[in-house]
Amino acid sequence: MQNDRTLVTSALPYANGPIHIGHLAGAYLPADLFVRYSRLCRHDIVYVCGSDEMGVAIMIRARQEGTSPKDLVDRYHPMIADSLDRIGISFDYYGRTTSDVHRETSQEFFNRLSEKGAFVTKSEQQPFDPSEDIFLADRFVVGTCPNCGNENAHGDQCENCGTALSPTELLNPRSALSDAKLEWRETIHWYLPLGEMQKEVETWIKTKSSWKPNVLGQVGSWLKEGLRERAITRDVPWGVPVPEEAAQRAGVDASGKVIYVWFDAPLGYISATREWASQVGQPELWREYWQDEGTRLVHFIGKDNIVFHCIMFPAMLMAHGGYVLPADVPANEFLNIEGKKLSTSRGWAVWLHEYLEAFSPDLLRYALASTLPETKDADFSWADFQARCNNELADVLGNFANRTLTFAHRYADGKLPALRNPSSVDQEVLAQIAAAPARVGGAYASFKNREAVFETIGLARVGNKYFNDTEPWKTRKDNPEACANTIHVSLQLLASLSILMDPVLPFSAARLRRMLNMPEVVDSSKRTDESTDALDWNSAGSPLLSPGHVLGEVEILFSKIDDEVIEAQVARLGSEQSGGVEYEEAKEEVVYDDFAKLDLRVGTIAVAERVPKADRLVRLEVDLGYETRQILSGIAEHFELDSLVGRRVVVVANLKPRKLRGLESKGMVLLAEDPDGALHFVAPEGIDGAVVR
Ligand code: MF3
Ligand code: ZN
Repeated sequence: MQNDRTLVTSALPYANGPIHIGHLAGAYLPADLFVRYSRLCRHDIVYVCGSDEMGVAIMIRARQEGTSPKDLVDRYHPMIADSLDRIGISFDYYGRTTSDVHRETSQEFFNRLSEKGAFVTKSEQQPFDPSEDIFLADRFVVGTCPNCGNENAHGDQCENCGTALSPTELLNPRSALSDAKLEWRETIHWYLPLGEMQKEVETWIKTKSSWKPNVLGQVGSWLKEGLRERAITRDVPWGVPVPEEAAQRAGVDASGKVIYVWFDAPLGYISATREWASQVGQPELWREYWQDEGTRLVHFIGKDNIVFHCIMFPAMLMAHGGYVLPADVPANEFLNIEGKKLSTSRGWAVWLHEYLEAFSPDLLRYALASTLPETKDADFSWADFQARCNNELADVLGNFANRTLTFAHRYADGKLPALRNPSSVDQEVLAQIAAAPARVGGAYASFKNREAVFETIGLARVGNKYFNDTEPWKTRKDNPEACANTIHVSLQLLASLSILMDPVLPFSAARLRRMLNMPEVVDSSKRTDESTDALDWNSAGSPLLSPGHVLGEVEILFSKIDDEVIEAQVARLGSEQSGGVEYEEAKEEVVYDDFAKLDLRVGTIAVAERVPKADRLVRLEVDLGYETRQILSGIAEHFELDSLVGRRVVVVANLKPRKLRGLESKGMVLLAEDPDGALHFVAPEGIDGAVVR
C-alpha cells in the first residue's frame, strides 16, 4: 500500500489578539481544506497547531493592555481556539507554547543542539534600560528614524517609512518602556551559525522544485544574499528559559535568558504532536510523524513566515538530525479588505468572533476559499461575500438541492426511483459524477483550493442545468420514465456533492446528507478510523443511493443575505478605531530658516524595482533634471510597481544618504498619508529639477 502518512501544521497564531480573516485565509482555511479532503480519502493524516504564547509580541500587547503576559495569553488562547473551532478548523490537537510539554520539548531540542556543538556563543553590546534594569528587545527601543525622521521609530523597523532598522541606527535611542536614555551593555547569547549550513540548506531546497514560485522566490533571494548566524536567545523576562545544562556546557550564566521565540515556536509543532499522541493514548506515536522518513510534513503559513519555515526551522531539524524535513510549504500571500491593507490597529479587519455572531461558518469558508491569496494578494469585500452566498450558494447549490428534493418528495414518494433506459443526457451527467472526485481532489491535493471550489460549484451548476434541460415537470405527464430518471440522476449527483463539497462546506454538507438520509460518510473533522466502511471521497464517483432509498426531510440549505445586513458589516469596518477621521496632531512651529534648509525638488520616477528580500522597499531612480537619483522607498505594499514609472514627485534632495539592504538611498520622496494609512504622491507641476519652496 502506498504510504500517505502526513503531518499538517498551520502557523501558530500569536495569542496577543483575536483571529481575523487574514489569519484564516493565510494559514488555517487552506490547511483545513487539505486536511478534510485527505481525511475523506482515508489518508493517515494528523493536523496540529497551537497558540504562540512566548516572545516580544506578547510582552508588548500585555503592556498595552496593562496586564501580564501570562494573563494575556490565558485570555486570548481560549478565544482563538474557540473561533477556529467554530469556523470549522479541524485540528487534531490545538496546544499552546506555555505548556510543560512544550518547555521540555524545546529545552531538549536546544540541549541536543548545544551538545552537538551546533551553536556558538558570543558576547555583544545590547541595548539596556537602566531605569527598569533590563535588556531591551529591538522592538522596545524607540528613536528617530534616520530615513524619514519619524521620532517614534522602533528598533526593528520604522512604521512610517517601512524601513527595517536595528537599534544602533536610530538617532536619540531611548527605551519604549520608561523613555530612559539607552545604555549599551555587554551580554552573551547563543547563535545558530546558519552561514555554515548554507550548502546543506541549498542542496535540500534544490530538491523542492515543485514548491510554489512565491515561496521558492523568497527562499532563493535569502540564499543568494547568504545566510548569516542568528541569535537564538534573548534577555527578556518572558519565554522558555535557556536550559541549565546547555548553560553549564557553554560556561554561561543563563539566568534571565530565554530561547528566542522563533526558535521555540516551530518546535511547538512537535510539542503539539506529542500532546496529541498522549491524548489518543499512544504517547510514542508522535515519533512516527516526525521521525519516520515516510512522513510528509506540510506547513501552511502566510508569506511573512516563509524564511522561518523554509530555512531556519529546517536548518534546526537538520542540525538535530533524525527528523523529517518539510515536504511542502504552501505559503499564501496577503488578504486585503475592501481594497485596503488589513490593519488591526486601524480596525480595518473582519474578526472571526464578530463574523460568527452574524453568519454561519460555511459562508465565509466558501467565500474566502473562492478568493484565497494563493498566487498573489487577494481582496475580501462584503459585496463579493454577498454575491457568492446569494448567486452561488443559494441560487446554484441550494437551489439544486431544494428543487431536486422537493420534487422527489412530491412526485416520487420521497424515494429514489430506479434508473431505466437512461438517455444520453442522463449518462453524460453520470459520467461527470464519475470524473468529479479526481477532478476536485486533484486540485485539493495540489493546494489549488480556488480551483477545487470552482469545480465543486461547477458540478452543482451541471445539476441545475440538467434539471432545467430535462424538464421533469413536463415529462412527469408525458414520459414518467424520463421524469424518474431525472430525479434519480439529480439525487445521485446531490449525494456525490454532499461528499465533494464537504471540505469547504462541512456543516452544510452534513445537513445535506441528513436531507438525503445518506449512508454514513467518513467524518472529515476527525482522524479517520481506517476500519470504517463509511463512504469516502472516491465513493463519490459512483451512484451512492440505491433505488427505493428513502429520503429525509427537506430544509433550506442556504438563504439569501439582504443588503442591509451587508451594509451593517461594511459600516463596522474601521469603526472601532474612530468615530470619523482621526487627524494627526499639529506639529511645533518652525521658523522659515528651518524650512529653507530643505532642498526640495521636482522629479519624475524613471525606474521602479522591487528590492529582493524586502517586502516593502522599492528601488526608485528619480530624474531630477540635473541628475538621476537612486532612492529607496517603503511603498511596495501600496502601489503596483508598473504604476510608479512616470509619476511626478517631490524629493528631499539634500537628505543625508544612507544604506538600506546594501543599497544607497539618496534623498526621499514625499508622500501624503491618509489617517487610514493610504499613501498618495505629492504630484508637482514644473520641470524636473525645479525647486519647491
Ligand atoms: N506566531 C507567528 C506569527 O503569527 C507564527 C509562528 S509559526 C511557528 O507570525 F512556526 F513558529 F510556529
Ligand atoms: Zn522612517
